[in-house]
Amino acid sequence: MKLFIDSADIDEIKEVLSYGILDGVTTNPSLIKEALKKHGNVDTESYIKEILKICKGKSVSLEVVGINYEEMIIEGKILFKKFNKIAKNVYIKIPVNPCLEKSCSNESDGIRAIKTLSKSGIRINCTLIFTPEQALIAAKAGAKIVSPFAGREDDYIRELNRIKFKKEDYFPREGIKKIVFPSTLKVFHDNGIVSGVDLIKKCAEIFRKQKIKSLILAASIRSPRQFREVAEAGADIATLPLSVIKKILEHRKTAEGMRKFTRDVVPEYRNILKKKQ
Ligand code: E4P
Repeated sequence: MKLFIDSADIDEIKEVLSYGILDGVTTNPSLIKEALKKHGNVDTESYIKEILKICKGKSVSLEVVGINYEEMIIEGKILFKKFNKIAKNVYIKIPVNPCLEKSCSNESDGIRAIKTLSKSGIRINCTLIFTPEQALIAAKAGAKIVSPFAGREDDYIRELNRIKFKKEDYFPREGIKKIVFPSTLKVFHDNGIVSGVDLIKKCAEIFRKQKIKSLILAASIRSPRQFREVAEAGADIATLPLSVIKKILEHRKTAEGMRKFTRDVVPEYRNILKKKQ
């Protein structure tokens, strides 16, 4: 499975690049806003170009902001023309459906934009996917990457059922079950999807069964355990914030083991490890 960082903060991207394990970067308008707030007075275009340069050989997703077909086509072309020449690593992020409410008259604009842009040779990462059906249609339209949002799917199931939670709270892959009166077992779900990990699992099962080549990028990952579970579920890529990447490396017993090993080093052994002067 490939590992991406979900960030537009160049310091964070550089940090994970230095680990030698990074395969790509995903950004969105909120992440760009956050990064520019932190970096103050930078020229946005040069800033993005710098990210693309340091990520040569790794894909970088940049999102359109238009909310209809025409706007998304213009912006997708502008972003690709302006930025892909830097390091040939740009993917254009197109929402599966740009409607600002649950339904509107242009719900097909995302899919039509994916079809048109991918036909013209632009690589598409289809974003804001919350059902396997949306993922299937996006892949059919030509998206090379489809991005189901695992964490936000969990948020949705909790919100629907008025369950209080913090963003990073673990949500079980088998969903939340509750005994309700008169003692029947209720499983909370979103049209048969019981968790964000379940969303990724169902997308992966369908793509394998239907021999669909598009890659499944598990987005909106909030914890190391969710990262593990989307890997088990068959995601091709997972995009993680730096905070989650760092948490993956932590374990109380790892630190405890380090303390003991450090205490136990005998001088004879340490001498072998000393650099020769
Ligand atoms: C994906 O590409 C999105 O940028 C991202 O994963 C959203 O994550 P969030 O739901 O934690 O904001």
